[in-house]
Amino acid sequence: MSTTDTSLKTTVGSLSLNNPFLLASGPPTASGIQIRHAFRLGWAGAVTKTIVPDTLEIEDVSPRFAAWKGQDAGLLGFENIELLSKRNLSYWTGEIAAMKKEYPDRVLIASIMASPDPAEWQDLAGTVQDAGADAIELNVSCPHGMPEQGVGAAIGQHASLVRELTHAVRGVVRIPLIVKLTPNVTDIVPVALAAVEAGADILTAINTVQCLMGVDLDTLEPLPSVAGCSTYGGYSGPAVKPIGLRVISQIARELPVPLMGIGGISRWQDAAEYIAVGASAVQVCTAVMWNGAGIIREMTRGLSGYLAEKHLPDPGALRCRALPRIASHASLSRDTAHCACAEFPDRCTSCGRCVIACRDGGYHAISLTDRHVAIDKGRCDGCGLCSFVCPEGVIVMQPRTQMTGR
Ligand SMILES: Cc1cc2nc3c(=O)[nH]c(=O)nc-3n(C[C@H](O)[C@H](O)[C@H](O)COP(=O)(O)O)c2cc1C
Repeated sequence: MSTTDTSLKTTVGSLSLNNPFLLASGPPTASGIQIRHAFRLGWAGAVTKTIVPDTLEIEDVSPRFAAWKGQDAGLLGFENIELLSKRNLSYWTGEIAAMKKEYPDRVLIASIMASPDPAEWQDLAGTVQDAGADAIELNVSCPHGMPEQGVGAAIGQHASLVRELTHAVRGVVRIPLIVKLTPNVTDIVPVALAAVEAGADILTAINTVQCLMGVDLDTLEPLPSVAGCSTYGGYSGPAVKPIGLRVISQIARELPVPLMGIGGISRWQDAAEYIAVGASAVQVCTAVMWNGAGIIREMTRGLSGYLAEKHLPDPGALRCRALPRIASHASLSRDTAHCACAEFPDRCTSCGRCVIACRDGGYHAISLTDRHVAIDKGRCDGCGLCSFVCPEGVIVMQPRTQMTGR
C-alpha cells in the first residue's frame, strides 16, 4: 500500500479543475440538462456543443453515425457527420449563466463557431463571455459540413487563417481563449504556433479525423447512408487515440502552451497516457455517448490509484513524464535486440497463428509440433509479430541477453 497523499486537482492554464476530466464538445454537452447530470456525477468541467449565431442555420441529417465494432460489440471506431448546436443563442446564454450559479466550482467552456467573417466570431465570443463562460474554445476543426461553408477545418488547416481568427477573438475577450485543432493537417506544429502567437492561452487536440467509414456491399451505399448517399465524416473513439497522442506530444515537444488532450479516451489509462505526453487535462466525447457519463467514477478512481502507486501527488506531476523518451528513429537503440520466446507453453492451443504469421509476414522462425512451439532463434529477427497474433499470450519478446534457452 502506498502512503502518497494524492489529489486529482489540477490546472490548465489559469483554469482550476477538481480533476483532469472534462466533457468534450458534442452530443453529451448538447443541453444544460446533460451537462448538469455530468457535473453531479463528478466531471470537473464541460465544453458546450459548439454554439453558433442564430443566423447560421444548422440542419442535421439522419442517420448521421456509423460504428466499427469488435467481436464483443465493443466500440473500436465511430464516425459522425453531425453538425453543431441546434439550440439558439439565448438558450445557451441562459443555461451558461444558470449552470455557473449552480456549479461555481466547475469549469464551463463555451465552444463557438460562426461564419468566415471574424466579426461574427467576436460578437459571439463577447456574448458567451458576458453570460459567464469560464473560457471560450474556438472550433476551427470540425471536418464535415462546416468546411463547405468556409469554417471548421477549412480554417484549422491553414496557419494563417488560425492566426487571423485567434487574433480577432483575442482582441475582444478577457477570459482564457482556447483553440481546438484538427489532426487533418500534415504538420500540426505551425498551426499550433500560429494560435499561440495570436494569443491562444490553451490548445485542445484533437477534433475528429476525416474518414469514410465503409460501403454497404449489398446496396453499394457509402456509410452512414443518408437516402443512398454519404459524405466524409469525423472519426473518433478508441481507434483515434494513437493519433491524438501523437498530436499532443508533437505540440508539447515544441511549445510551452497548456494542452487539453482528446481522442479515444474511454479509460483512466488513456487519460494518464495523454497527461504523460503533455496534456494538463483531457476531454471525452465518444466514450460518454457509448457508455454514459457515469464512466467518470472509474476514471477518477483508477487515475487516483495509479498516481498513488507511482508516488505522484497530482496529475501535474505525471505531465510530460514520457515526453523525453519520444526520440528520432535514428537515435533508438540498436544494442538491445529481442527474440521471441514461448514463455507460457501450457497455454498453447496449437491454433498455428504464430506459425502462419511468421511464415507469411515474418522470418520463417516458428514451427509447431504437438502443441510445442519451437522458435528458431537464429532466424528470429525480433520483430514481435508472433507475440501480437497469439491469442493466448504464449509468446513474449525478451532481450536476447536475458534469454534462458527456451
Ligand atoms: C457525434 C459527435 C459530435 C461532435 N460535435 C462536436 C462539436 O459540436 N464541436 C466540437 O468541437 N467537437 C465535436 N465533436 C468532436 C469531439 O469533441 C472530439 O474532439 C472527438 O470526437 C474526439 O474525441 P472522442 O474520441 O473522445 O470522441 C463531436 C464528436 C462526435 C462523435
